[in-house]
Amino acid sequence: MQNIRLDLVSPGHLQGTLTSTTPSISWQVIGEEKNWFQDEYQIRVRFQDHDCWDEISPLQSEESQFVKWPFRPLRSRESFEISVRVKGTNTGFSEWSTPIEGQVGFLVNLENWPAKFIAAASQERVDEPTASETLFRKVFHASKEVKRARMWSTALGIINLEINGQTVGKDYLSPGWTTYEMRLLHQFYDVTHLVHKGGNAIGARVGPGWFSGKFGFDGGVTNIYGDKRAASLFLEVDFVDNSKIQVCTDETWESAFGPIVAVGLYDGETYDANKELYGWSEPEGLTFPGVWSGVDIINFDTAKIEPQAFPHVTKQRLVRPSLLPLTPSGCKILDFGENIVGFLSFKNVVAPKHYTVSFRFAEVMENGELGIRPLREAKATDTYSFKGAAAGELYEPHFTFHGFRYCQINDPQNVISLENLEAVVLSTNMAAIGNFRCDNGLLNQLHANIVRSTVGNFITLPTDCPQRDERMGWTGDIAIFGKTASFLFDCSPMLSNWLKDFWCEQKLNANSKFPYAPPVTVPNMIKYMGHFWNDQISAIWQDCAIYLPKSLFDSTGAAFILEQQYESMEKWIECIPLVPGELRWDKEKVPIQLGDWLDPLAPPDDPLKSVTDAYLVADLFLFLILYMMIDISSIVSPHTTEKYKEWARICKKSFLKNYSNYSGHLTSDTQTAYALALSFGLYESAEQAKYAGDRLSQIVRANDFRISTGFAGTPFVTSALANTGHLDDAYNMLLQKECPSWLYPITMGATTIWERWNSMLPDGTINPGEMTSFNHYALGSVANTLHEVIGGLTMVEPGYKTFQVRSQPGGGLSFCLVYHECPYGKIEVIWKIADSKFQLQVSVPLNTSAKVVMPDGLRHLVQSGTHEFQCPWSY
Ligand code: BGC
Repeated sequence: MQNIRLDLVSPGHLQGTLTSTTPSISWQVIGEEKNWFQDEYQIRVRFQDHDCWDEISPLQSEESQFVKWPFRPLRSRESFEISVRVKGTNTGFSEWSTPIEGQVGFLVNLENWPAKFIAAASQERVDEPTASETLFRKVFHASKEVKRARMWSTALGIINLEINGQTVGKDYLSPGWTTYEMRLLHQFYDVTHLVHKGGNAIGARVGPGWFSGKFGFDGGVTNIYGDKRAASLFLEVDFVDNSKIQVCTDETWESAFGPIVAVGLYDGETYDANKELYGWSEPEGLTFPGVWSGVDIINFDTAKIEPQAFPHVTKQRLVRPSLLPLTPSGCKILDFGENIVGFLSFKNVVAPKHYTVSFRFAEVMENGELGIRPLREAKATDTYSFKGAAAGELYEPHFTFHGFRYCQINDPQNVISLENLEAVVLSTNMAAIGNFRCDNGLLNQLHANIVRSTVGNFITLPTDCPQRDERMGWTGDIAIFGKTASFLFDCSPMLSNWLKDFWCEQKLNANSKFPYAPPVTVPNMIKYMGHFWNDQISAIWQDCAIYLPKSLFDSTGAAFILEQQYESMEKWIECIPLVPGELRWDKEKVPIQLGDWLDPLAPPDDPLKSVTDAYLVADLFLFLILYMMIDISSIVSPHTTEKYKEWARICKKSFLKNYSNYSGHLTSDTQTAYALALSFGLYESAEQAKYAGDRLSQIVRANDFRISTGFAGTPFVTSALANTGHLDDAYNMLLQKECPSWLYPITMGATTIWERWNSMLPDGTINPGEMTSFNHYALGSVANTLHEVIGGLTMVEPGYKTFQVRSQPGGGLSFCLVYHECPYGKIEVIWKIADSKFQLQVSVPLNTSAKVVMPDGLRHLVQSGTHEFQCPWSY
């Protein structure tokens, strides 16, 4: 038995704490048994400070996912251990699984958050793009031997914690970015190893982050949620004699300004080591006369505090640079060899006091120099002034991150050598659960780039890009990419948290022009920027309300995500303005649609002018979400299912009437239009679908297999070809290297997915459009084709309880491997072509079934175990 999880929370350090007192329980049964299904299970729990286990009687059931909590409700902050054993249809009970520890977070509906929010005394409002940090400290005495010490913390800003000079957590950028008007997450740390009998000190440093720092494009906004950085935390120490103390932030704490003299998420961090306060988080820290002063108490409604129920942002890996030849203007550039997200750190560097170095980051080079234009207003520069320590100095930034492959280092005295430098890759610490390999190196690189762009854009929330003055939770991007992301990573905990913000933002829009409409970015930055998109709605972007929860449900089987979001979904559908008597978007009321955003045929400076009619796209997605609602409502609210069936039927009729002729020819005769109509099942007859498939193939061929789809059509075009008998065209498109195509960026050295098909032009110059990122996951949704068409793996029952393997070899490939760690265990599909045969090996997890369809049309139904199949095949 492994991978026991509670709701979506996996056990372990910095994985998050539970928001529920009755969490569901899921487990995987791992083993080699053939055709194994679970027949019975038994669960036991050991509550905090109890010696014995409470167990339920064995229950006859195949269920192993999201099993209802069978014990008494847990208490706020309670920890417990849980263990499971199972019996198969023809086997006896297994051993009890190794217990995992669960931890309920601080639940404000069950107890009062005891800590105050503290800011530096009389902190002034800063309206600059960067602001300084604030340090807070408190010395306390532990009079007895410590049994257990735990800390709960949050901040208005970004917080880093220390106890007795030691870092508390290995997390970064906590408490992350949520809809602060309604939700602020708290983190939890077990700090037993850091607190001891005698004098102790807690230190907290808080930077502006998303709360009060500058954020947003077109000049951005500062102090969005408030103008004072503040900390709120408490430490609870349990002594061996069962007594306890709590140390909470309150008016007795001290505050000071520390060495981070200026920092912003976009602009970077300026650190003056001469301003370090030696021993500031230790009980006997040196006193610096006149430096420490008191704190002000800030009003913040603690009812908004919630546990963080998903993994924290942590260091993922380290990347070492090489040095490029000096640029024409004489600059020194480090090349990390891949476009990553995080920061640069150095250690063991000896330099004179006040000597200053700086690092400026960018994703690409242009004309031999650092290509900073795509960053727009983000300065992306970290600066460090040495204190002159003879033993050397080390530094890593605290409150910023950058998207970069290159770094211009300004170090006139050459004190920093390459071996003292490394880049730290940051991301929400999600497990990688899916991958793809084949014998075409370019396709493998494409897949690796998609993975890298996911890692770089999943930093507490799903963002469009990680480098320029944007980095926002654009809803359309993740609507399109959510399915791919949840195949590659265990991201449903983070994304279901973000969906809570999504619904909060809808509630904050209750009285807007379109009541309860979701915004285009979550958290809703657009409203603070006064941007005209604030009161606009568009298909795909707002359709995320339904699209993303459905993708998460399909990949995990977690029906509670659908329940959590159901009101959000219904409210979105209710506010779409429709043409009277029909089910299609009303152009009069909604004059702009983002449509097939960034279709390569649209003018670079006007992506709204895509070749496919944006209302045709919008109406297709309207059908898609209504169709999804049939499924969703049948689980959450069965009495509404008939309504959605009827609406989907009318919507399809309206679509065909308005956009299709009898044969299936569409008013927009484009790749995107046919790809979507086919993939969403809009045609009424097989003849129409055949016509559309053939027409799509003609358009693709006439375009010499180059792409002409944007955000909307990209995830669907290759699979639409493959599923209508045009597999060769699908492969020709996938393997095309001319611009625009998926492999073109790879021929240009891309290591991430670009925002535009031609973010870099063939002559090596950067696309002149002002919106040109080199790390945007959206167009990476093509990975679905790699997984589902080439690999052939698709979900049939949510959570892959049943799945299909229908690999479709082609494109001269002779080998492919795709795997996905589904909730039940690892599915692996490997095929190769040898000796004029197609040979397939499928590993099916226990408790699941697979439908296998071979290229020769033969079908097999198999259960757990590894199975081999073959059929004649030649290219
Ligand atoms: C973002 C996109 C987003 C779009 C919508 C851009 O600036 O980077 O990814 O979806 O705006 O307008």
